Amino acid sequence: MGSPRREGNSEILLDRALKGAAEAGAEVKKIRLVGLNISGCTECNDCYDDGSCSTADDMDRVYRVLEWADRILIAAPIFFMGLPSQAKAMIDRTQRYWVLKYVLHQPFPRPANAPPRYGSFIGVGATKGKRLFDGAISTLKYFFDAISVEPREDLYLLIRMVDEKGEIRERETELDSAYKMGKKLAEL
Ligand SMILES: Cc1cc2nc3c(=O)[nH]c(=O)nc-3n(C[C@H](O)[C@H](O)[C@H](O)COP(=O)(O)O)c2cc1C
Repeated sequence: MGSPRREGNSEILLDRALKGAAEAGAEVKKIRLVGLNISGCTECNDCYDDGSCSTADDMDRVYRVLEWADRILIAAPIFFMGLPSQAKAMIDRTQRYWVLKYVLHQPFPRPANAPPRYGSFIGVGATKGKRLFDGAISTLKYFFDAISVEPREDLYLLIRMVDEKGEIRERETELDSAYKMGKKLAEL
């Protein structure tokens, strides 16, 4: 959950999607990035030695989940045409996995028989511009690649013209779409 606003539009939609996933039999783990202490990547390049990150903070918990999960679902609002800093800090800190893959040429740390990984996105924004989600989708494409997750853009849920906290509760069609998306993601 990448919104700084608890129980805002992203989180309401995310909870619906997670309900769909759980009802499809998935084991669900939700991380609210806003409550965590995650500093930005400092480009110290310590990860070039062996792919590990030398910054010790709550990202350690997130790394464990990113390595464990078979599906990754990011929910976040659009801030200044991109992802909010809480989500972006987490993404930047996955640079260690980019290094592992493209510099050290090592596989993502998963068991050999682990299932394929898929990623999806719930995005919300106040305006209705055609290109509102382009920046976030582009960032997520490279994030998912770094963590060896296949982005499923066909499942992305992009909702325009939602601004007030909790306003999305009145849009039953979108809530239902979130539920169905979570279910589909789990069933892939
Ligand atoms: C700092 C900031 C920047 C924002 N930038 C945009 C933007 O570029 N485009 C847009 O459509 N909405 C923008 N918004 C509005 C949010 O995307 C909108 O309020 C959204 O519903 C918040 O989702 P949440 O309730 O999950 O936090 C911005 C809001 C804030 C606080």
